Amino acid sequence: MCGIVGYVGSRDCRDILLRGLARLEYRGYDSVGIAILNGGLHVAKCAGKVRDLERRIAVAPPAGRLGIGHTRWATHGLPDDTNAHPHVSQTGDIALVHNGIIENYAALKQTLSTKGRRFRSQTDSEVVVQLIEAVLEASPGIPFEAAIRLALKQVAGTYGLAIVHAGDPDRLYVARRGSPLIVGLGEGESFVASDATPIVEYTNRVVYLDDGELAVIGPGSCDVRTIDDVPLTKEVHELALSLGAIEKGGYPHFMLKEIHEQPRAIADCLRGRLLPGGGVQLGGLAGLLDRVAAARTLTIVACGTSWHSGLVGEYLIEHLARLPVEVEYASEFRYREPLLAADDVLLAISQSGETADTIAALREAKARGALALGLCNVVGSTLARETDAGVYTHAGPEIGVASTKAFTAQVTALVLVALALAHRRGTIDPGRAAALADELTWIPEKIAAILAQDAAIAVLAQRFTYAPNILYLGRSFNFPVALEGALKLKEISYIHAEGYPAAEMKHGPIALIDRLMPVVVIAATAHTSDKMLANIEEVRARQGRVIAVTTPGQEDVKRLAEFVIEIPETLDALSPLLAVIPLQLFAYHIAVNRGCDVDQPRNLAKSVTVE
Ligand code: AGP
Repeated sequence: MCGIVGYVGSRDCRDILLRGLARLEYRGYDSVGIAILNGGLHVAKCAGKVRDLERRIAVAPPAGRLGIGHTRWATHGLPDDTNAHPHVSQTGDIALVHNGIIENYAALKQTLSTKGRRFRSQTDSEVVVQLIEAVLEASPGIPFEAAIRLALKQVAGTYGLAIVHAGDPDRLYVARRGSPLIVGLGEGESFVASDATPIVEYTNRVVYLDDGELAVIGPGSCDVRTIDDVPLTKEVHELALSLGAIEKGGYPHFMLKEIHEQPRAIADCLRGRLLPGGGVQLGGLAGLLDRVAAARTLTIVACGTSWHSGLVGEYLIEHLARLPVEVEYASEFRYREPLLAADDVLLAISQSGETADTIAALREAKARGALALGLCNVVGSTLARETDAGVYTHAGPEIGVASTKAFTAQVTALVLVALALAHRRGTIDPGRAAALADELTWIPEKIAAILAQDAAIAVLAQRFTYAPNILYLGRSFNFPVALEGALKLKEISYIHAEGYPAAEMKHGPIALIDRLMPVVVIAATAHTSDKMLANIEEVRARQGRVIAVTTPGQEDVKRLAEFVIEIPETLDALSPLLAVIPLQLFAYHIAVNRGCDVDQPRNLAKSVTVE
C-alpha cells in the first residue's frame, strides 16, 4: 500500500531516493518524504507527490550517503505534512518509514505517552520509532539492532520498515512482517525498496526478505537474521526485470502502454506451455496436476480484477475439466472458517503477489492442510514464495493502478490450467483440445486488431465522458467481463458503474434504465446471442442507450444497438480475452477526457498490502 526506499553507499542519495519513490508512487501517493543523514538527520516531507517534495527541497536540497524515503497511502491519519513519513523519534536521532498496519498502536501509544513521550502525528507508524527510542533509553548501551528487535517484539500487526540512526552513518536497518521488502546489492552500495522497480536501474542482484526477518545493511552488504537474532544465509537472486519494462515507452500513461502490451503479454504467458495436439506444459504445477484433478474442491481466492479473472477461471475449469470450482473474495473466505482439508485445493490469484487479504486467505488454507497454488505476475513476491506451487503469468511489470494486461494474462493462464486439468480428467477429446490450443495462439493477433480501433473507441468515449452512471451486462464467460469493465471505469474515471449478469437486469437494475443510462452489452458469444438480443430489446424499450461489444456475425445486435464495437470471432471460452479490450480503452479515454489521474487514481493503490 505504501512505497519504501533506502540507500547506503558512496553516492549522494537524494536523487536515488526521489527517483525510487517516483517509481513506487503507484503503490500510494497521498504524501511523501525522505530522511538523509549528513551529520544529523535531515527530514523533508509533505502531503502530495514526489514532484511536490522536489519543489519543497529545491531551495536547500539535503545531501548525504545514507537515507530512507516513503510514499504513502494513508491508513491512519490524514494525508498531511505531519502524518507523512519518515517519522522521527523524540530526540530526532532515529528516522523510520513504515508500510503496513500496527494493530496495537493505540495501546503502545498510551503506554509511551504516560511515560512522557510526545507524539507529533496521528499515525500508527510513529509509535514504532518512539518505541525503539524508549527501549534504547531504558537499556543504555544496548546495540541499536537489539533495541529494534526488542521493540518489534512488542508490536502486533504488519510492517515493512526502514530505519536509520544519526549515530550510525553506514547502516540501514530493515525489518519485515507482512509487507514486502527487497534489498539490492551494488558495488559498495546497497538499496532497499518495496519492490524491484527502484532497484533495477542500479543492480540486478537482490535479496528478498521474508516475514520475521531483520537485516542490517551496509554499503554492498546485507546481514539478515531472524527477529530472534538467528543468523540466516539468504540467496542472492538475479532480477529478470529490465529498466525499459518499467518506463512509459512513449505512451502518455502506463495504463495505455500496458493495454497495448497485451498481445505480447499473452504470447509470453503462452510461450513454451502449449504442446502439439493441444497438450499443456505447466512446469510450476509439475507433479501436482493429478492431485488438483482429483481435488474434493477447488477454491479460487482473489481480490478486485484478480477476482474477476478467477470467475472466468470458474467457467473455464468447469466447462473444460468438469471440476467444481468455488470463487471467493479472499477477504470473505478467510473469516468464514473455510471447510478445507488435505484433499482440497486453493488457487490464489494476485498480480502483485502482495495483496494482504489474498495472502491471508492462502495462509488460512495452508493451515487447514489444503494444497495452496498461486497464479501471480511478480517473481519472488510473497504469494509466489508461500504457495506450494504455481503459475507465473509473465505479463511483465504492471505499473498502472488499473489492472489490464495482468487480467488477460491471468485468464490466459487459467485457460492453460483448465486445459491441463481436462486432459488429466479425460473430459476433452484431442480434436477439441487442439482446436482450443490453436485458437489461443491467434488471440494476440486478434487483440492487436481490436487495439487498432483505439481511435474509434476514443471518439465513442467522448459521448459518455460525463455520464453519471453506466451499466455493464454480460452472460456466461462474459459476465465476469461485465464486472471488470465496470471496475475499470469506476476506478479511473470515478463514474459509478455496475456489472451484472444480463439476465439479472430484469430482477432490479432495469429500474435504472432511462435515456440517461448508457448500457454496455457484451454480446460476443454464440451460445448466448439470442438471450443478449432480448436484453438489448428490454433496454431499448426503456430508452436506454446500448453500446454493444459484439462480433461480425451478430447482425441483429448491430442493428438494434445505438453504438457498436466489433471484436473478432473466437471460441466462447476465449471470448473474455477479446471482449475486455474495448472496455479497457473505453474506460481509459473517458478518464483522460475527465482529467483524471489515470495511472494513480485517487484513494487507490496498486497493491493493497493492508487488510
Ligand atoms: C484492479 O484494476 C485494481 N487495481 C484492484 O482491484 C486489484 O486487482 C486488486 O487490488 C488485486 O490486486 P492483486 O491482483 O495484485 O492481488
